[in-house]
Amino acid sequence: MEATGTASDIRVFENAEEVARATAICFVDIAVGSISAHGRFSMALAGGSTPRRTYKLLASEEFRDRIAWPKVHVFFGDERCVPPTHADSNYRMADEAMISHLPIPLQNVHRIVGEGDAIANASLYEDDLQTFFDGAPWPRFDLVLLGMGDDGHTASLFPGTRALSERTAWVVANWVEKLNTYRITLTAPAINHAANIVFLVTGAGKAARLPEVLRGARDPQKLPSQLIQPVAGSLLWLVDKAAAGRL
Ligand code: 6PG
Repeated sequence: MEATGTASDIRVFENAEEVARATAICFVDIAVGSISAHGRFSMALAGGSTPRRTYKLLASEEFRDRIAWPKVHVFFGDERCVPPTHADSNYRMADEAMISHLPIPLQNVHRIVGEGDAIANASLYEDDLQTFFDGAPWPRFDLVLLGMGDDGHTASLFPGTRALSERTAWVVANWVEKLNTYRITLTAPAINHAANIVFLVTGAGKAARLPEVLRGARDPQKLPSQLIQPVAGSLLWLVDKAAAGRL
């Protein structure tokens, strides 16, 4: 049992390509199961660079016909405060790698508005989620994909930031001093009410932090990824040997 209190399932793969493939297979399994169970699949995509390969695989010949994409609802775990055309936009990354290549109805793609007033955009996104999850006390995504930064952050829950102690909001505009900007992010409780949470973590740059997050003393202010503990769902870590080097 890890020091963080949640029994995480950790799977180590040879390299980043194998992690991307395992994530795509896991994504398909949960999507097919969710659609047959309740007629739709709601998921929140991870940003950053690691998931791009997974998204490309899901849009590829090999995977694209395994999911009824018209029944898929795409949300985002977090967004940078930039327009959707900006190189730093998580929406742009996911759109170029996957969304624009698949028959997902436009109204099923729930982009976080990154341009303009971050605080207003965060509440706009919370309204969108509240409508979609139809008055539920918390959102219950079928799947939330997450990455982890080499500082232990996930989504845009950065060390020492206000969002870490959020207990009621689903989405916040989180001021990140070290980036000198706001980030719009799902809160930990909103993530933790998901049915399935999958972290994908690759590269030697993450090797120092991963053991601290998974096996170290509980200190979520320093290691926000430790906040991710499903209330009633599964937690899976898909990592490569380089990231798992010190586990
Ligand atoms: C973001 C992400 C962030 C990301 C980590 C890891 O918007 O940047 O949501 O939480 O998952 O920073 O990023 P890499 O995959 O690029 O290492």
